[in-house]
Amino acid sequence: MIFREMTPADVPQMFLVRAAAKENSMPLISGLKFLGITVAGESQKLRTTHKGFVCEDDGVIIGFVVGDGSTGELWVLSVWPEYEGKGTGRQLMRLAQDWLFSKSWDKLWLTTGVKPSRALALYQKLGWKITETLPHGGSYRMELDKPL
Ligand SMILES: CC(C)(COP(=O)(O)OP(=O)(O)OC[C@H]1O[C@@H](n2cnc3c(N)ncnc32)[C@H](O)[C@@H]1OP(=O)(O)O)[C@@H](O)C(=O)NCCC(=O)NCCS
Repeated sequence: MIFREMTPADVPQMFLVRAAAKENSMPLISGLKFLGITVAGESQKLRTTHKGFVCEDDGVIIGFVVGDGSTGELWVLSVWPEYEGKGTGRQLMRLAQDWLFSKSWDKLWLTTGVKPSRALALYQKLGWKITETLPHGGSYRMELDKPL
């Protein structure tokens, strides 16, 4: 398996990996449309404010992460279900965190569902702290301080 920077050409595969997630699931068409997330829009973000990293197995993307360099947000993370539990999510998180900290952010943030999940457990293991339950009650805001 190899880790490399994401390019706009990877965006369609990124959608498939995200749609396959069992927890924090995201219906492919209706959900993404509702959030205004499109292939063209995501590709444009990668050309400007955002950076992503993918993990490939034999040329197929099995996991990815994207951070927003303009806000310090760890924006999206997903690993194909059959590949979970092998350390891919942790490695992707480290790549994105390192990049965001290199953009001079001293504190990173993300939002995630309040239900216990692999993602919540991973973020906590990596040192992220819950700082707020968002108004509708379904999501936490979490933050990570830059290591000294
Ligand atoms: C969250 C996700 C990216 C993790 O990917 P992964 O490749 O399975 O993660 P890793 O194998 O690196 O495991 C991460 C750590 O979490 C731990 N972990 C996983 N599930 C756990 C659980 N239920 N309880 C406690 N720890 C757990 C693992 O033991 C591992 O810790 P370790 O590295 O100290 O052993 C993946 O499960 C996923 O895509 N989930 C669906 C999409 C999603 O929820 N995205 C985030 C939206 S906010």
